[in-house]
Amino acid sequence: MSLHWQRISVPFDYPVHFTRDVLAAANEVLVEAIARREPQRRHRLLAVIDGGVARAWPDVAARIADYVAAYRERLTLADAPLVVPGGERAKNEPAALERLQARLHALGFDRQSVVVVIGGGAVLDMAGYAAATVHRGVRVVRVPTTVLAQADSGVNVKNGVNAFGSKNFLGTFAPPFAVVNDREWLRTLERRDVAAGMAEAVKVAVVRDAAFFDWLEASAGELAAAAADRVAALVERSARLHLAHIADSGDPFELGSARPLDFGHWAAHKLEMLTAHRLRHGEAVAIGMALDAGYAVEVGMLAAAARDRLVRLLRALGLPTYDAALRLCGPGERPRILDGLAEFREHLGGELCVTLPTAIGCAVEVDAMREDVLGRVIDLLARGDAAS
Ligand SMILES: NC(=O)c1ccc[n+]([C@@H]2O[C@H](COP(=O)([O-])OP(=O)(O)OC[C@H]3O[C@@H](n4cnc5c(N)ncnc54)[C@H](O)[C@@H]3O)[C@@H](O)[C@H]2O)c1
Ligand SMILES: [Zn+2]
Repeated sequence: MSLHWQRISVPFDYPVHFTRDVLAAANEVLVEAIARREPQRRHRLLAVIDGGVARAWPDVAARIADYVAAYRERLTLADAPLVVPGGERAKNEPAALERLQARLHALGFDRQSVVVVIGGGAVLDMAGYAAATVHRGVRVVRVPTTVLAQADSGVNVKNGVNAFGSKNFLGTFAPPFAVVNDREWLRTLERRDVAAGMAEAVKVAVVRDAAFFDWLEASAGELAAAAADRVAALVERSARLHLAHIADSGDPFELGSARPLDFGHWAAHKLEMLTAHRLRHGEAVAIGMALDAGYAVEVGMLAAAARDRLVRLLRALGLPTYDAALRLCGPGERPRILDGLAEFREHLGGELCVTLPTAIGCAVEVDAMREDVLGRVIDLLARGDAAS
């Protein structure tokens, strides 16, 4: 008998830029991001553009071409930009993923070519997954264009698509080559999407940063009005908290069961599927947080006043705290939302681990939730919704 214990470690590092007018010829952030490892070489890139972005910014392809022309010694376009459907469709329809993989194949993409993805969280997730599977990983420079993607998903190390009726069933851990957050994109977002993205900032404030929560409360009026400076400040603080978690948690690729930044997410993922994505991810997260905070109060872990602050903040930001889908029942009158717990457990790896707040800024993990208590909290949320 013999044993060899193999140990390898692969350090990842990537820059996250906060800038404005990323495609202005005078702005070198993007070219520096793409060429950061081999500054002398010419880099081949394909831009993948969210259909919603292409609609709101009709000159985006021309601006990319001008930008690349301005840096022709360092950049070259492999092809015209590929516009893909925006929103959850990008993750639901296998055709979008296959089209991108096929294009990368046809273009002879190699592992040092760069996919520059300009879009919301859904397009970034899909394109990131495509890129991670081509040659086992080609470089991705993310240019997130929504509040959610700039504040959370775009600076993260995950990607994925929905499959077999399960949210993010297929996906990989693949840190980006670089991230460029440009607040100008946010100007054309629907109000609904601005609010949805703020839910992730509220989430990270509740579990990690009471001072940030205070700031969100104090700024709620301006945030709800999408005041650009306030939204940019929210984005940067939230992004930095998410980045700190990835760097410092000791488990960036989620090998253990704990998911401290997934507060509100077991129900959120289920709600997104139950509503066939009528609810945006951030909206579902807001409802999931109201549910889990309500649960924490019912089991004596959280003061009712703290839950009330959270619910008031979510509403002030224009976010929902209840949806009728919470009461959709399956066989035996069992609320289907409860299946979200088992699905979350499966996603984690067998052991349930749900983050619940114990105060604003503090959270703990629990390994079980009582279904009768959840049922009661859903009734309370429904009544609160009807009263408001
Ligand atoms: N990978 C991760 O770690 C992670 C974390 C959180 C969320 N997510 C995923 O992110 C997705 C949600 O992302 P999202 O909230 O960015 O929404 P989204 O990607 O669904 O985009 C929402 C809508 O906005 C449009 N859009 C995007 N940018 C625009 C712009 N600048 N102007 C006008 N319209 C624009 C899109 O076309 C779409 O119609 C979900 O699939 C969620 O699961 C992933
Ligand atoms: Zn989320």
